[in-house]
Amino acid sequence: MCGIIGYTGKRNALPILLDGLKRLEYRGYDSAGISILNNNSLIRLRAVGQLSALEKRLNDELNKSMADGATGIAHTRWATHGSPTENNAHPHADCADKLHLVHNGIIENYQTLKSSLESAGHIFSSETDTEALAHLIEQEINNGQSLDEAVMTAVQQIKGTLGLAVVAANEPDKIVAARRSSPLLLGIGQGEYFIASDPSAIIPHTSQVIYLKDDEFAIITPAGYEIKSLSGQSVAPRTETIDWSISEITRGGYDTFMEKEIFEGPSAIANALRGRLLPDDGNVKLGGLDAAENKLRYIDKLVIVSCGTSYYAGLAGAMMIEEYAKLPVAVLHASEFRYRDIPLDKNTAVLAISQSGETADTLAAIHEAKKRGLLTLGIVNVVGSSIARETEAGVYNHAGPEISVASTKAFISQLTVLGLLTVYLGRTRTMPLAIGQRIVRELARLPDLTESILKQAHKICAIAERYNSFKNFLYIGRKYNYPTALEGALKLKEISYIHAEGYPGGELKHGPLALVTTDLPTVAIVLRDSIYEKMLSNIQEIRARQGPIIAIATENDARLSELADDIFYMPKTIEMLSPILAVIPLQLFAYEVAKLHGRDIDKPRNLAKSVTVE
Ligand code: M6R
Repeated sequence: MCGIIGYTGKRNALPILLDGLKRLEYRGYDSAGISILNNNSLIRLRAVGQLSALEKRLNDELNKSMADGATGIAHTRWATHGSPTENNAHPHADCADKLHLVHNGIIENYQTLKSSLESAGHIFSSETDTEALAHLIEQEINNGQSLDEAVMTAVQQIKGTLGLAVVAANEPDKIVAARRSSPLLLGIGQGEYFIASDPSAIIPHTSQVIYLKDDEFAIITPAGYEIKSLSGQSVAPRTETIDWSISEITRGGYDTFMEKEIFEGPSAIANALRGRLLPDDGNVKLGGLDAAENKLRYIDKLVIVSCGTSYYAGLAGAMMIEEYAKLPVAVLHASEFRYRDIPLDKNTAVLAISQSGETADTLAAIHEAKKRGLLTLGIVNVVGSSIARETEAGVYNHAGPEISVASTKAFISQLTVLGLLTVYLGRTRTMPLAIGQRIVRELARLPDLTESILKQAHKICAIAERYNSFKNFLYIGRKYNYPTALEGALKLKEISYIHAEGYPGGELKHGPLALVTTDLPTVAIVLRDSIYEKMLSNIQEIRARQGPIIAIATENDARLSELADDIFYMPKTIEMLSPILAVIPLQLFAYEVAKLHGRDIDKPRNLAKSVTVE
């Protein structure tokens, strides 16, 4: 979703801002813009579409003031209020064009603000909610406030969320930034400072960052920075080091980030397991849960809240925890949780699963759980993200940055962590030592098993070539691999734009079987597990109606060869961990089909990596 980068220092700001915007592209956007502050002049350029359109305008219209300016702000916009037009693109300006700002988030009371600002004579030139903020700050400056004070006063009047960066012509070299529920960080260099919505934008320049907290402001100039609270009090700096390397945020020889991230699966699992397995004790060490150890011992219900791929990971995790830790688990779309009146008592814990740690719906669900006094937990990939900070305890994935909009390595990492959590919760309850040891042993084998699947990627390419002209697909699985079917279908529709539906195999005869013809291929996950025979019956139902079948099967399963048209064999593991392996061929299949269709795989249309609006 929208991205922000700001720079002030001694270097020319323009190339730094452009490079930062490119690094933010993965978040999804439909227009972009840059403002450069040079002495007392502010110059802005905006363009609809890809960054190449903005670059073209910069090439055509570049002037010395813009090229030489050492302070600036830039933005990639993902349209919410108002269509993707140049006028609606950020930076937005005040009436006098003396103040420019970029904003992530939503201003809920913008209609009221806009009406009163228009009555006071302000002229709006866009349909966005953000522009109200520019005029509000202008009004406070006209009332005699400094830029810092005006931003603070304006933010106090805003209802909604913001990550904000503001520059003004009469305050050369200065950027004022603010955050409320929309991520923003300050990057600290040598005599230069950065503002960014995401560390990937500034990683080539510094690894020293300060994550702003809600209702905090950063005021930066090349001479230094200050962080203040909404009441204007100085806040003590708390610098953190980002441990991402540049190689982690570049494609490293792969055609796309998605392909690279699928092939990072084995290391994502190894990183999730590192230092956490206690094989002899049949147990795991999850230091991030220490803070909640006692409470976790006594919870009698777990509610998982998450969205998209993370929601599907939650569905599989719930089965693991129920089967092995004997703890009832409900899994809810985070966007539904807060609007349902679910009776939950104090022995319930709410677990958020989120790769980005910034998904607005999931964060809102955590806020709701906290309001109800419940224990909140997180399984989060991005260190220092909002969900990681706002939950009482949690487990980091350590999967490394996931840039492609379609989540792949994060999903298998989430399932791995849910496997760890199952052992953790199970061993404090009734799980016998031998079961704990078995699960831990199998977890340790996963990196090698996933590697062996990836070595067969060429077989999936061949299958994808045979099926890429179909217009619809059905995905089926049962029990642990029903969520895998849902995830496989999501991957295909998300990046190839081909319609796909995931179903539990047992549901076919309750409706979807009516769709089955020679034109509807089914991808079936048919493993040698507790529901193998049931899955065989389900694919027989499809076979009888001439539906083509692609099976994901356990190695050496001879019975399937008579039933399926194409088979991808994978190694055996215990049933609860099988989705981690079974999803890989489905990720590869979606990837290959999307490639054959010539899609923009890392940046599928209409989607954003981090969904920071509700
Ligand atoms: O960052 P999160 O895990 O909270 O994101 C949740 C979903 O937006 C995300 O999984 C989305 O469904 C992906 N694009 C799926 O590939």
